[in-house]
Amino acid sequence: AKYTWVEKDTCIACGACGATAPDIFDYDDEGLAEVIYENDRNCGVTAIPDDLFDDLQDSCDGCPTDSIKIADEPFNKEG
Ligand code: F3S
Repeated sequence: AKYTWVEKDTCIACGACGATAPDIFDYDDEGLAEVIYENDRNCGVTAIPDDLFDDLQDSCDGCPTDSIKIADEPFNKEG
């Protein structure tokens, strides 16, 4: 499994990630992306299953500001 987290400080609300991986990413009131998989609340603590990994990697590759982070360990962010 992988973990993911959106660095909102650099997200420019381009909207690509939610289109590519709607099960993983959605947008807050300002249009900034956040991890919503199993109510993660952009904490980066929810394991993303292997069957979503292609979508996750495509989103990461497609983000123009490299705001989508992926790691093997939980991020433990506070949203
Ligand atoms: Fe933001 Fe990148 Fe998604 S700029 S909306 S995190 S594709």
